[in-house]
Amino acid sequence: TNIMMKDIKEIIIPEEVIQNRIKELGEEISNSYDPEDEVIMVCILRGAVIFAADLARHINLPVTIDFMDVSSYGQGTSSSGVVRIIKDLEENIENKHVLIVEDIIDTGLTLKHVVDMLKTREPASIKIVTLLDKPERRVEKQVEVDFNGFEVPDKFVVGYGLDYAEKYRNLPFIGVLKEELYS
Ligand code: PRP
Ligand code: MN
Ligand code: MG
Repeated sequence: TNIMMKDIKEIIIPEEVIQNRIKELGEEISNSYDPEDEVIMVCILRGAVIFAADLARHINLPVTIDFMDVSSYGQGTSSSGVVRIIKDLEENIENKHVLIVEDIIDTGLTLKHVVDMLKTREPASIKIVTLLDKPERRVEKQVEVDFNGFEVPDKFVVGYGLDYAEKYRNLPFIGVLKEELYS
């Protein structure tokens, strides 16, 4: 058993369930493009790296992988929704098919800004895949998600890329953190 299990209240998505769903998502994504299309996977650091790595191996298309790191101003409750680029893409996405890969969509503000930024670079297409969606938390700005792994309740979830204070990303499942650890 993982040494961090003591901090987990419950496992809500076990490892095998995640892996099976990723296989399905990979097939869905592959079938949604023309077989000739080259796809740039844009992994949003850092949470999406674990998911992106597993998903990439189930996409049957010529794929390249690039990374973007963004940070939202003001972690408080009244987030302006303004997102700053910490690390930009290395590749030019003009006329390319972009697949944005996220681990979770919470308020939706990060994704909204990433999509708006990338659209100005005139890619051939932009699609979005997220492993988790927390629809209860969504604020005014709605982004159309093309592929979604699981809906999760509004609980403090960690694991499989998702952190609390940068920890727990290496858990192979999605779990709920014990309340005494963050309250
Ligand atoms: C988390 C998560 C998403 C974003 C979702 O990233 O990985 O990227 O927040 O939140 P939102 O929908 O309310 O914008 P975080 O900023 O914690 O960085 P990390 O990926 O490095 O953990
Ligand atoms: Mn993130
Ligand atoms: Mg985080």
